[in-house]
Amino acid sequence: MKIRLEVNGSRHTREVDPRLLLVHFLREQLDLTGTRVGCETSLCGACTVLIDGEAVKSCTQLAVQADGRSVTTIEGLALKGRLHPLQEAFWEEHGLQCGYCTPGMILAACGLLQDRPDPAPEEIRRALKGNICRCTGYHNIVRAVERAAQSMRGAAAKEEA
Ligand code: FES
Ligand code: FES
Repeated sequence: MKIRLEVNGSRHTREVDPRLLLVHFLREQLDLTGTRVGCETSLCGACTVLIDGEAVKSCTQLAVQADGRSVTTIEGLALKGRLHPLQEAFWEEHGLQCGYCTPGMILAACGLLQDRPDPAPEEIRRALKGNICRCTGYHNIVRAVERAAQSMRGAAAKEEA
């Protein structure tokens, strides 16, 4: 089947097997290996990407389901060589160790912050409950999302002024 989609702002047209999972399409056909493969059963969240701004697990989506839509992976977050505020905050707050879960955590947090720019810690924990980290104990991840939310609100307020 032929699919046309936008990934990180670039348009792609590809012929794909109708059974191909989105995570494998991104990694193997577009070389976007920042999207991780973990459990492949929708449990760990390592494969989370944004589709039309909504966080989804790309191991439970077929590539054909992304036809005509816009996908953002971790490679698409930094703008003009500048880290996204969430990437900066994970760095600053030590929200990562091995980093395997980090792309999925950051994309899930992106989805949250688009809807809730000022989330309470419990809301952050709830939004990330589908993302498993084996290293950090989660506290620094929650702090990183709070820090990013604060810096994004500050940037938005400056733009409005
Ligand atoms: S690889 Fe998709 S949720 Fe684990
Ligand atoms: S930082 Fe290693 S799994 Fe989360």
